[in-house]
Amino acid sequence: MKKILRLGGLLLVAVFLAMQFFQPERNSGEVTAAHLYRQTQVPPGVQRMLNNACMDCHSNQTNYDWYHRLALVSWLISQHITEGKQELNFSEWGSLSVIDRIGLLEDMSGEVKRGAMPLKSYSFIHHEARLSTAQVDSLAEWIRHYQEGLLLPVSE
Ligand code: HEC
Repeated sequence: MKKILRLGGLLLVAVFLAMQFFQPERNSGEVTAAHLYRQTQVPPGVQRMLNNACMDCHSNQTNYDWYHRLALVSWLISQHITEGKQELNFSEWGSLSVIDRIGLLEDMSGEVKRGAMPLKSYSFIHHEARLSTAQVDSLAEWIRHYQEGLLLPVSE
């Protein structure tokens, strides 16, 4: 019986080690001219907030920690990144139409206000991603300002 348990344990360890070889592709693209920050002027405070709370899942540049390399964790966050980028990718902001930008800005404001974004599993680990009411307000304020600018015809 003991022998079977020991064998079972070894097998589990072997499976876990083997799983480590299946690493999802890393989300580490170059910052290009299409990035939100290169498309418009974003106040430093808002940038800090987006960097701390959103960019890991909604851009082509994720800041990884060592434990993100562990199988299961790596798969889970890779899935979050893929799904997050499908909805909203700040790295490719420049390729969006004005209508899409306005709509996504509206969604951002709504998601943050009702506490749906950042994902709970993320802010549970990343304390700096927990947004204060003042931060949520300043994001909403910048969004309103930016949306107004997008609605105005460009005059030069
Ligand atoms: C841990 C990863 C993660 C973080 C961090 C994160 N998001 Fe998301 N976001 C997702 C995923 C996954 C989806 C798609 C599934 C869903 O809607 O829940 C999504 C969807 C969205 C959507 C589209 C929602 C809809 O259904 O229309 C918006 C807008 C959004 N996120 C904004 C933000 C903003 C703003 C932040 C930062 C304050 C943020 N997200 C932080 C993972 C994340």
